Amino acid sequence: MPIDLAVVPVAGRGTRLLPLTKSQPKEMLPVGFKPVVQYVVEELARCGMHRVLFITGPGKAAIENHFDVDAELIDHLRESGKEELLDELAFEREDLQYFYTRQRRQLGLGHAVLCAEPVVGSQNFVVALGDSIIGLHAQSQVVRTMADHFESAAAAAVIAFEEVPREEVVHYGIARPAGEVNEVFDLEDLVEKPEVEDAPSNLAVAARYVFSPAIFDYLRKTEPGKGGEIQLTDAIRALIRDGGRVMGVRLPAGQPRFDIGNFESYFQAFVEFALADPGHGRQIREFAKTLLAKYAEAR
Ligand code: UTP
Repeated sequence: MPIDLAVVPVAGRGTRLLPLTKSQPKEMLPVGFKPVVQYVVEELARCGMHRVLFITGPGKAAIENHFDVDAELIDHLRESGKEELLDELAFEREDLQYFYTRQRRQLGLGHAVLCAEPVVGSQNFVVALGDSIIGLHAQSQVVRTMADHFESAAAAAVIAFEEVPREEVVHYGIARPAGEVNEVFDLEDLVEKPEVEDAPSNLAVAARYVFSPAIFDYLRKTEPGKGGEIQLTDAIRALIRDGGRVMGVRLPAGQPRFDIGNFESYFQAFVEFALADPGHGRQIREFAKTLLAKYAEAR
């Protein structure tokens, strides 16, 4: 059966975005017209997913509410003659089933994925981080490409990678490719946050994965690392060491990852989505020109 189940971890505390995230999930922050996690879910639907399992946690109820069908709101819009706004709720009717389970303690991304095991069972599945948008306005099909390669190569895992400037490798999990790097390549190892001079490439893990259920065995065996967190990267490394075939797929040129995990990249994402907006972009670009002139000398 083709892969149609995506696990979306949204249980993290988002401390790098405090105070914004004190009482709202970072996955619900707006980027242009939509909250981040809506872009993620729409991307998954376009890539052929039919089931989405959210790994939620404390303070994340707004995510569940967002994906409910709000019959009262629909009635209200109809009765008050605002039918044109019904289009804004079209995402409620995506051909998707939603499931929710709680990560009861925030013990890292690896632990969050392990919380999916009782629902995923023996199926292959996608993991899509709920705080990252792939491609402008989430137009990427990379998850479909990854799932296709996963199936045709009978891989144990496929990971999305993006090229980052060499000096930024210190912030990411970095690929050690097994040979030549094309759109798709085999992985020899992953290196977590290497020094610039030690980095085996400038290909950084980019928030999308496809796994066979074998990953759960490795997650269960993974010892907690820094901050008591179970790292997904450690489990993937152990899988490779045991001979599992793990492949990388490069994000296509022009489809960057927008990371809503820290303020700098959140601001960048919002600015680019606004400047590129088909309806408002022209005015915002004019406005931005005056702002750039105003702040040209600012430090
Ligand atoms: P991050 O690595 O950005 O961690 O999560 P975080 O805890 O949310 O944020 P900081 O570091 O405190 O600022 C990447 C994705 O994994 C989820 C997050 O919700 C986010 O979508 N995550 C992370 C979990 O579901 N559980 C965790 O324990 C950690």
